[in-house]
Amino acid sequence: MMADRRPRLDTKTVGRTHAHDSAVLHVQGSAAYIDDLREPEGLVHVYPGFAKEGALGQITALDLSKVKAAPGVIAVLTAKDVPGVNDCAPVFGGDPILADGAIMFHGQVVFAVVAETREAARRAARLAHVEVTVEKPAVTVEDALAMGTRDVGEPYQFLKRDPAKVIAGAQHSIAESFHIGGQEHFYLEGQVSLAVPEEQGAVSVQCSTQHPSEVQHLIAHMLHVPAALVTVECRRMGGAFGGKESQAAQWACLAALAARVTGRPAKCRLDRDEDMIMTGKRHDFRVDYAAGFDAKGRVTGVEADFLSRCGYSADLSNAICDRTMFHADNAYFYPAARIATRRLRTNTVSNTAFRGFGGPQGMLFAERMMEAIAVRTGQDALDVRKANLYAAKRDVTPYGMRVEDNIALDVIEELEKSSDYRARRKEIEAFNARSPVLKKGLSLTPVKFGISFTLTHLNQAGALVHVYTDGSVHLNHGGTEMGQGLYTKVAQVVAEEFGLPASAVRITATTTGKVPNTSATAASSGADLNGMAAKAAAATIRKRLVAFAAKRYKVNTDSIVFNNGNVLIGNQTITFGELARQAHIARISLSSTGYYATPKIHWDRAKAKGRPFFYFAYGAACSEVTIDTLTGEMRLDRADILHDVGRSLNPALDIGQVEGGFVQGMGWLTTEELVYDQQGRLRTHAPSTYKIPCASDVPADFRVKLFESLGNKEDTIYRSKAVGEPPLMLGISVWTAIFDAIARLNPGRIPGLDAPATPEAILRAVKGMAG
Ligand code: MTE
Ligand code: HPA
Ligand code: MOS
Repeated sequence: MMADRRPRLDTKTVGRTHAHDSAVLHVQGSAAYIDDLREPEGLVHVYPGFAKEGALGQITALDLSKVKAAPGVIAVLTAKDVPGVNDCAPVFGGDPILADGAIMFHGQVVFAVVAETREAARRAARLAHVEVTVEKPAVTVEDALAMGTRDVGEPYQFLKRDPAKVIAGAQHSIAESFHIGGQEHFYLEGQVSLAVPEEQGAVSVQCSTQHPSEVQHLIAHMLHVPAALVTVECRRMGGAFGGKESQAAQWACLAALAARVTGRPAKCRLDRDEDMIMTGKRHDFRVDYAAGFDAKGRVTGVEADFLSRCGYSADLSNAICDRTMFHADNAYFYPAARIATRRLRTNTVSNTAFRGFGGPQGMLFAERMMEAIAVRTGQDALDVRKANLYAAKRDVTPYGMRVEDNIALDVIEELEKSSDYRARRKEIEAFNARSPVLKKGLSLTPVKFGISFTLTHLNQAGALVHVYTDGSVHLNHGGTEMGQGLYTKVAQVVAEEFGLPASAVRITATTTGKVPNTSATAASSGADLNGMAAKAAAATIRKRLVAFAAKRYKVNTDSIVFNNGNVLIGNQTITFGELARQAHIARISLSSTGYYATPKIHWDRAKAKGRPFFYFAYGAACSEVTIDTLTGEMRLDRADILHDVGRSLNPALDIGQVEGGFVQGMGWLTTEELVYDQQGRLRTHAPSTYKIPCASDVPADFRVKLFESLGNKEDTIYRSKAVGEPPLMLGISVWTAIFDAIARLNPGRIPGLDAPATPEAILRAVKGMAG
């Protein structure tokens, strides 16, 4: 199928590269994050404390007398101090703000010290005496299965025809089990909140969160006050990546509680190590699967069981596991399928949203399966992939949604050509034949990622635009800025509406006091939702201005044009500011809200049928790696990327998202490894033991391009497509390239490679290829 061929839209600001609105501030170090804000008079600091021993058990002794007596300590908070609901869970409950009677993972907050300085609070926290009846924790998926812990949600599956029967009757089949690791968010700005008490029990909170509205509601419940008494604001986050969708709330609650108890402003900022211990990560999985296929490698049936380590509570795990299932097909058609998940409870920190929200794990399964089929059928994995893509009459997903915007083959074939895939495959074969120790691998993988929150009602947004009488514009919306450039994109949309330069739009901090009842900025939907809402708000004001000018200047409304800071009215030109001033004198409102709800989507979870996604974002990446078969070391030599953002709102920002997403995905699958010991303690909780990619891991030869597209088939904001999460899954090509390098050591044998492909994992898989 061809990309949509609509005429190019004529825009002045939208679709062009504009620097991130805070770029200059970022490099100057003058972009204010919460810990940079001028501290209010009388500020106290809050520091959470936990039991040093044990991951699961009753709290039998809690002696905080030494903590209270320590220098600088003002108060010590425990569950008893919570006036309202002691829970900060996003959906289902079960996340105590302060542990009450028992702990369910190592690092669970039992008390919080409030002191004059952060240092005093941290020192005092160490003096606590906490005794726990240390019980055997379920640490791994295997522990949870063996011990029979109660799942955090019901098992769920998609079933299409009778895959077991199809696989049993297939020409070829494979059955495998493998592990997919988790991932620490490693945002540069850790979790932090600053709460300021106000009159009549109100509180105002600055919080580094993707979800101000949820934080507002959780604080209101905790303090037992109406939501209207709580205001939550966020100007920007120093990265979030899903880690601040639900899990920013606990620290905001602790700051707000300390403010309530002491009557003073209170700040809670976690230390890096404790942030890593106390907050959830990407879900890790064991995948057990079987597949049937024909001699060409075309899948006939799939059965996949995804066993997910959710941690001690539900948090967002159910929606995440759903998204894993929605992406277990990636870009491939399964004629018969059973895609199932178990949401296993373990005594580890509650795993949470992370860029891709479960999708990457589902997709990694699909790509591993393609590699394994290639090994079995002796084909190039790219040919297996192409044979399995969604196509005409093969276009219905395992959850019953028709893929109507499929451009996977166009993207793949363009990248196949531009990356010189076939010639390089030959060169690599020649290299491997003459190189006994170093071996190369090559892989080209597609991405198809569903855009929309899978919980349909979350797909809504609001915005607020003011035009002042000098023509300057103030913009506010429900989306949050975490570095992705959302604020810049939405400002471009508003500027476009008024014919102003983007710099003329003043971007203001997201706050529950201006735009209420918002969804999290997540699911990559920030620009889709808030861009549309802001456009609607600006369009309302613009229409009022046009109606006013037409009447005042006695011209037709269609002879009024907003351009370059001016307004053309018939044959006169006045500045936008002058029109605003005149409209104000004529008593025309220059302020408006805007609202947007995504059309077309619906999802019947009970029947597992519907259209959960408005559209799909596509992309493809081709990675070439070299592995050292004696040490397990790996280097990414070259990566080529072609990614579809529809008609880009801002190409530079989009390319930034693509590059960053790719590298973050590669880190997940190669160097980033979370290790828990048998007592359930996270052993990799410092930058020294947890390896995110660094500058030298970015391939020396890195070719990133946006797919030339005339736009999203669906009517999104200026026909753009969401870009936040999909590129992370381009990183899968690095893992499959490693898989490919190992597979070639012994043709016909499927490598026993888990994710992440650390040097140890690579070496194990290499050894397994012998004999
Ligand atoms: N980019 C940066 N720089 N920092 C981030 O924290 N989060 C990602 C992605 N890109 C993130 C990022 C995630 S998980 C999501 S869902 C989207 O941005 C959210 O923003 P958007 O909806 O505006 O794309
Ligand atoms: N994606 C990201 N975050 C979410 C979702 C989703 O589908 N649902 C709830 N939070
Ligand atoms: Mo992104 S994981 O949807 O915050």
